[in-house]
Amino acid sequence: MTMARVLVLNGPNLGRLGSREPEVYGAQDLSALRVLLAENAPEGTEIDVRQTDDEAELIGWLHEAVDAGEPVILNPAAFTHYSYALRDAAALVTTAGLPLIEVHISNPHAREEFRHTSVISGVATGVIAGLGFDSYLLALTAIGRLSAR
Ligand code: DQA
Repeated sequence: MTMARVLVLNGPNLGRLGSREPEVYGAQDLSALRVLLAENAPEGTEIDVRQTDDEAELIGWLHEAVDAGEPVILNPAAFTHYSYALRDAAALVTTAGLPLIEVHISNPHAREEFRHTSVISGVATGVIAGLGFDSYLLALTAIGRLSAR
């Protein structure tokens, strides 16, 4: 695995961060996340933060990670709870030996019942939730440590 690039993939409605339910997701938007991760990236590592509302596009990006041999930080957003297609694509990443860390800004377990299930977690390398943007920062640290093994 290379650490030259880390894909940070965000699912539906996360393009609305900053204005969407700030009491749940905070007041910062995706560009603030981009800056935070870039500032904390190891020297020589590019952080590629993307967002889509489209399941097919998100799946395509996971295929891209497999083909390029790149680690993934994935916030699947609402797809977390029901997308078996996304789960199968996430499994392609981890069965290729690449880390895929599932992250959530909020703690889905402390919220509505439908958020208590993740169909992604079973194929993820690890899961970090409930820590705001720090969930992503901790995932980046974890990927760095995994790639140093
Ligand atoms: C989320 C939690 C999901 O339940 C929700 O659908 C999201 C965001 C989070 O980051 O806390 O869109 O993944």
